[in-house]
This record gives sequence, structure tokens and C-alpha cells, in this order.
Amino acid sequence: MLVNTKKLLQCQGVPYEQKERQNHQSKGFAYIETYGCQMNFADTEVVAAILAQEGYGFTQNPQEADVIFINTCSIRENAEQKIWNRLKVFRQIKQKRPHVLVGVLGCMAERLKKQLLEEEQCVDMVVGPDAYRSIPKLIEQVHFGEKAVNVLLSREETYADIAPLRLHSNGVTAFLSIMRGCNNMCTFCVVPFTRGRERSRDPDTIVREAQQLFEQGYRDITLLGQNVDSYNYKGVRFAQLLAMVAEIHPKLRVRFTTSHPKDMTDDVLYTMARYENLCKYIHLPVQSGSNRILALMRRGYTREWYLQRIERIRSILPDCAIATDIIAGFCSETEEDHQQTLDLMERVRFNSAFMFYYSERPGTYAARKLKDDVPLEVKKRRLQEIIRLQQQHSLYRNREWIGKTVEVLIEGDSKRSKEDFSGRTSQNMVVVFPKHSSYKVGDYVQVRIISATSATLKGEIVS
Ligand code: SAH
Ligand code: SF4
Ligand code: F3S
Repeated sequence: MLVNTKKLLQCQGVPYEQKERQNHQSKGFAYIETYGCQMNFADTEVVAAILAQEGYGFTQNPQEADVIFINTCSIRENAEQKIWNRLKVFRQIKQKRPHVLVGVLGCMAERLKKQLLEEEQCVDMVVGPDAYRSIPKLIEQVHFGEKAVNVLLSREETYADIAPLRLHSNGVTAFLSIMRGCNNMCTFCVVPFTRGRERSRDPDTIVREAQQLFEQGYRDITLLGQNVDSYNYKGVRFAQLLAMVAEIHPKLRVRFTTSHPKDMTDDVLYTMARYENLCKYIHLPVQSGSNRILALMRRGYTREWYLQRIERIRSILPDCAIATDIIAGFCSETEEDHQQTLDLMERVRFNSAFMFYYSERPGTYAARKLKDDVPLEVKKRRLQEIIRLQQQHSLYRNREWIGKTVEVLIEGDSKRSKEDFSGRTSQNMVVVFPKHSSYKVGDYVQVRIISATSATLKGEIVS
């Protein structure tokens, strides 16, 4: 799963006109800040729908909010540190405007529970990922002068019937949760503790939501789960679900994340080959190239198995981009293990990667039974070596596209210049190119690639 803890994405994208505010302000204004993976961003949109239903309007400015929510991530220690720092800022806001309610949502709420109320006085409300339906009741409880906590995990909750309010939307791309939780218990990972048991969402509700998104003008949807390959709703498996969503319309691009190497079947690959609108991009986190470390992580595969999966992708989907996640410096990792990771990277040459150094998470198997014994400087040095190698590989992969013409879905203006559009290819590569008056956001356009860096392709529209 693509983790975005570095980037703070506030509720952006939707311009809240004055008119709209007046319509919705019966209960006041809510402000929501989101950290962590795409699932958290999708959850924020479910929370927003619940709040809108209650009569709240939304603001992008915490200074003018009546209710402030922070949807949190616990995946690494520094992810949590960021949240503590933000809570200090919210504390100041509350000092000036004491009526403001501060709520902590998401994985850190689930992990720390009541402890959050004790350690940060400004927090009024703590709500875990499966308890968002109770938010209106909890708000009421706070208004009666109590602190409110609901961190119950559920075996059934998928929020299937709630149409998310697309707060993060550019009108073209959207996230769609297809399952929740995780049953894998990788030894380093806090997610099974914060998100609970795996459960799949009714495929009919997924297809309906995707269909509505298409009708509203969305052209690129990402199906989300911690391990999409184990999707299973009363016998409907992931490959079938993919086909059902792909059938909605050939102009609707469909992506998904995250795949798990132990569960990714050829079935899924053949389905991807059958439909052009199933994007040729697979995020297949490897974590380590050493079999000893993979076993300690309880990932359920070996490097040989992983490389064989890569071979299958390359033979069934020759133009498919492959991305990964890598952890440097897991418990007992030696220089030899680290070299094995670099060697695996050389063999695959990933298009892109999310790279981290190991951060011990309280309560996980690794924290209880293994020693976090790789010194921080060594973890950081190994991570730097991994990042440096990946940059070379990203550049190598991106350069392969120079001279070719690709189909790009226009997502908006380029960050650097209003004269340029930015969009993505099926392979999830960002392409920047000069605007042309006959194209607008949400259109598909043919672009010839002229140059490449490790992060971006540049091109020009082919008429
Ligand atoms: N479900 C996805 C991963 C979700 S977490 C999967 O199984 O691949 C996203 C990434 O964060 C993981 O792939 C891993 O690389 C990283 N990560 C998870 N726990 C971590 C930890 N304790 N320290 C460092 N990185 C971690
Ligand atoms: Fe964490 Fe492993 Fe589940 Fe991914 S598959 S969320 S790494 S336990
Ligand atoms: Fe996602 Fe972070 Fe939770 S990565 S599942 S928000 S711990």
C-alpha cells in the first residue's frame, strides 16, 4: 500500500463557495486532516459523508472550524510523532476558542485508545477505524461535557452503504475501499492491531459506487485493500471483481493496491491482460531480498518465489510497471542480508519504490520477541544505499519511454507551471506537457515522451 505519511494532504480540491457554506452550516464547520495510507484518505471521505449528513459544513482552515478531526497513522514512530506535533497546534486553537471539539480518528486512535486523552488534554474524542458511524453520538456526548471514546473493532463493518464525500477529489481520480483489515500478521506491522480482521465488501456496492463515479466524470479509480489478492465476498474473488469493475466502461481506468506476493495469482494477471482499462501497474511490496529476513518477517514467500512472480508479470503483461516497498534494517539484518536486498532490486529494476528504515511498533511480534538491534546510523546508511539504487532504476525505467507515444489521462495543472498539464499513464507515470485549448482535465490525450527524470516524464501532445 502506498504510504504517504511525509505529505500532509489537507482537505483540498473542493472549493467551498460561500453559498455552499451557508447551506450546510446548521451544525458548524468541520476540518479534517489526514495522514497515512490511501485507506485513511478513503476513510476520511466516509467520515465527511457522515458529518455532512448531520448538517456540518467543511472548512480548509482549522482556525475557523468548530470540529477538528485528525485521521492518524501508526505505521512508523515518526508518523505518530507528526500527529503529536499537530495536536499541540490544535491545543493552541482550542485555548483561543474553547468550544472547538478535537477528535482523533484512525490507527493511532485504535492503538493508543484512552491513553490519547490522558497524554494530550486538548483531545475530546477518540474513534477507531471501525467506529465512524458512532461519531454523531460521540459528538453529542462531548457536548454534554464528557470525553468520548469508541475503539471497537468489527468483523463486518465495511461502510458499504455510505457514499463517500469526495473531499480530496480533483474530479478525475478517486479511491474506493473494497476490503478492510488484515489477517497477515507480518511481524513488523501494526496494521492488524489497528485495523482488525480482514473483511471484504459486497461487490455489488463496489460496482455501483464505481458506476456512479464514472457518471460523475471520474475516470481513474483505485480499489483499496491491505491485501487485495485475498478479496473474497461469498466466493467472489479479486480477479472476478476486477472484471466486473472493468466492464463498467472502457474509458474508466481501474487501479488497485496493495497486492501481496504470496497471494497474487496468475488469474489476476490474465484478467489485467484482458481489459485495456485495467491499469498496467502493480504494487508488490517485497520488504527484503533476504530469505532469512523474509522468514523473520513472516511474509510467507521467499526471494525465489517473489522473482518468479515478477517473471509471471513480465511474461503475461510485458508493459506492466512494478513498484515495491522495502524496509531497511529489520531485526538482526546483516550486511549480507542487505546486499541480498540490493541484489534483488538489481534483478527486478522496479519502476518505483517506497523505502523505509525499520521502526519498532509496540505490541507487534517483532517488538515482543525479536531484538531491534541494527543501530540507527546503520539503518539510515542502508536506506540511503537502497534509495540511491532505486533512483537509478526509476530513471532507467522512465527513460525507456522516451520517443514513445502514450495515452495520458489529464488530472490537472502541473505543479510547476499553469501553462502545463499533468496526468498519468496506465503505468502510473506522471507526464507533464504543454496545454492545448482543445483538451481539459478528465480527457485522454496522446503524448509523445521527450525527456525523463527519475520522477517525471515530459512530452508533447500528438495531434
Ligand atoms: N499491506 C501492505 C503494506 C501496508 S503498510 C503490504 O503488505 O504490503 C505499507 C508499508 O509500510 C509496508 O509495505 C512496509 O514497507 C512499511 N512498514 C510497515 N511497518 C513498518 C515498520 N514497522 N517499520 C518500517 N516500515 C514499515
Ligand atoms: Fe501489514 Fe503485512 Fe498486513 Fe501488509 S500484509 S498490512 S505489511 S500485516
Ligand atoms: Fe494506513 Fe497507517 Fe493505518 S499506513 S492502515 S493509516 S497505520
